Amino acid sequence: MSDNKIESILNEQRSFPPPQEFIDSATIKAADLEALYAKAAADYQGYWGDLARETIHWQKPFNQVLDESSAPNYTWFRGGTLNVSYNCLDIHLESLGDKTAIIFEGEEGDTRSLSYAELTAEVCRFANALKASGMEAGDRIVIYMPMVPEAVIAMQACARIGAIHSVVFGGFSASSLRDRIEDAGARAVITADGGHRGGRVVELKAATDKALAGGCATIEKVFVLKRSGQEINMQEGRDLWWADAVADQSAECQPTFVDSEHPLFLLYTSGSTGKPKGIQHAAAGYLLNAKITNQWVFDLHDDDVFWCTADVGWVTGHSYVAYGPLAVGATIVMYEGAPTYPDGGRFWSICEKHGVTVFYTAPTAIRALMKLGDEIPQSYDLSRIRLLGTVGEPINPEAWMWYRQVIGRDKIPIVDTWWQTETGAIMITPIPGVTATKPGSCTRPLPGIEADIVDENGNSIDSPEAGGYLVIRKPWPSMLRTIWGDNQRYIETYWRKFNNRFYVAGDSAHRDADGFYWIMGRIDDVLNVAGHRLGTMEVESVLVAHERVAEAAVVGRPHDVKGEAICAYVVLKGERPTGAEAEALTSELRNWVGEELAAIAKPDDIRFADNLPKTRSGKIMRRLLRTIARGEQITQDTSTLEDEAILDQLRGDA
Ligand code: WT7
Repeated sequence: MSDNKIESILNEQRSFPPPQEFIDSATIKAADLEALYAKAAADYQGYWGDLARETIHWQKPFNQVLDESSAPNYTWFRGGTLNVSYNCLDIHLESLGDKTAIIFEGEEGDTRSLSYAELTAEVCRFANALKASGMEAGDRIVIYMPMVPEAVIAMQACARIGAIHSVVFGGFSASSLRDRIEDAGARAVITADGGHRGGRVVELKAATDKALAGGCATIEKVFVLKRSGQEINMQEGRDLWWADAVADQSAECQPTFVDSEHPLFLLYTSGSTGKPKGIQHAAAGYLLNAKITNQWVFDLHDDDVFWCTADVGWVTGHSYVAYGPLAVGATIVMYEGAPTYPDGGRFWSICEKHGVTVFYTAPTAIRALMKLGDEIPQSYDLSRIRLLGTVGEPINPEAWMWYRQVIGRDKIPIVDTWWQTETGAIMITPIPGVTATKPGSCTRPLPGIEADIVDENGNSIDSPEAGGYLVIRKPWPSMLRTIWGDNQRYIETYWRKFNNRFYVAGDSAHRDADGFYWIMGRIDDVLNVAGHRLGTMEVESVLVAHERVAEAAVVGRPHDVKGEAICAYVVLKGERPTGAEAEALTSELRNWVGEELAAIAKPDDIRFADNLPKTRSGKIMRRLLRTIARGEQITQDTSTLEDEAILDQLRGDA
């Protein structure tokens, strides 16, 4: 496939209807979809209520679909009780007990698979171990694990006893871990000695020890899975090997049935201030949307092998690894390591080896693999793949076309799924057996999701191509319930802008003449680096915490693989460094951010200046910094700048 071909068709209104063979076996056909839209439009609560009754196994039925009395703190399915782990495991045991639930591949090539019966037994043993350590419903438990089956087992075990998990991505640093433990008031951490990533061992237990050193009074127990095998420190009385904890435990554990609104998990995500937000999800509503989207969007059939490449540290790894696919009784693939280890064919080799049929990944991974050329994927047998998905950031049409042509044999459907940590599940997406897709558009909202695009006054924008705020007009079951410990921030962040009338996603978008949505990016000061949200403020706070830094401003610039690259403008205490000193300090600050926050947060560029460009009121002129970071011509008014020469410093020319 030549690059010219992509270039020349870029301006076309390309549209790709699903192939007939896909349509023939699709779970949702055109008529089904129309019926769902019609029902949701005619009777919103009836639509969600019926779906909830059909989809979830209830211990006790609910008596109210939606309670709007405390809006925007909406509640769903009041009066009902359920257990999410029961809904992911026990309901399948009779018919699918021997079916493979998880196919695992470690980075070093070790593989392992667990049937639904085996997975259930492991979940029960670990749930019993949690109980034996005194963990109860409502307790917060932090999970800081590599991508191994025990990460899913730990999540499911928490759900089984009604404990609230908070998974912290293994790539986050000790201090990020500590902040999340403290904010949640967690009683236990579940971790591992280490995990394999990119040929190295990520030392999770060492980071946990560092996080817990001199504080974190709420932590009573640390469960440690042996994975990487290196020597670690175990603290008497606090730390417990996973194997020892489950050794004498029964493989049966009666699930704790909880209220529909009982929190299932917290997941911390970046916002426009320095402090991550603990996004709180409720058991029933979350399970409902996670389950139906796996059926409708990924069209999972009994013989499918679904590989969502996301780590369980992100919401995608919750809804499309640990919960949703299991709720539908699917077989999933989990892979521990890096996409390009030991070489750029690893993803494709896993697809071939395990017969992956549905593959879901992020644009950043697609672009990185695309750069390596067509020969690598072409040397693997990818013929079993019948559906492709993408999530995390807007996908550029070139990458979309490559994905379709080279991985999708120029015929299989791609679902570009828009959603957020806050929405819990996919919201705007093609339905693979119905929608004629356009490269770069996430197409239409699902039935029951009342998305819209509005202007500054909250009026719906009808003219195609005009951008505005992406909002959701009605509550939906898997919406976040609040920000843990800070309901005021919940209201301010998501509802205040339009007087609580609709949920504000924080993205801008436009809608074409077919009613298809095109996401344009974030409105707030949030970066999207490799499909992960990072607050500019978070990176800035870490930079100024360094002893030599006086001030810092962070902005994003487009990056052809990661989507956005991070540019940091730094003012030091004392002299502005140049030459070798500037270089040394650049790498010191990059490492500092990696250690204090996360490796993915390391700035790509650091520029030192004597000052930052500010307005008269002292606000940093971010727009100007963005222009500079992109290497574009400055058209903004710079007359308020004290010293125009600093523009040259900021550009790195002086
Ligand atoms: C933000 C949410 C939801 C799982 C992964 C990220 C961006 C997400 C798309 C898409 C364009 C997308 C948005 C959104 N985003 N999916 N298909 N097209 N942009 O979860 O960390 O909560 O980030 O990711 O900006 O608001 P998250």
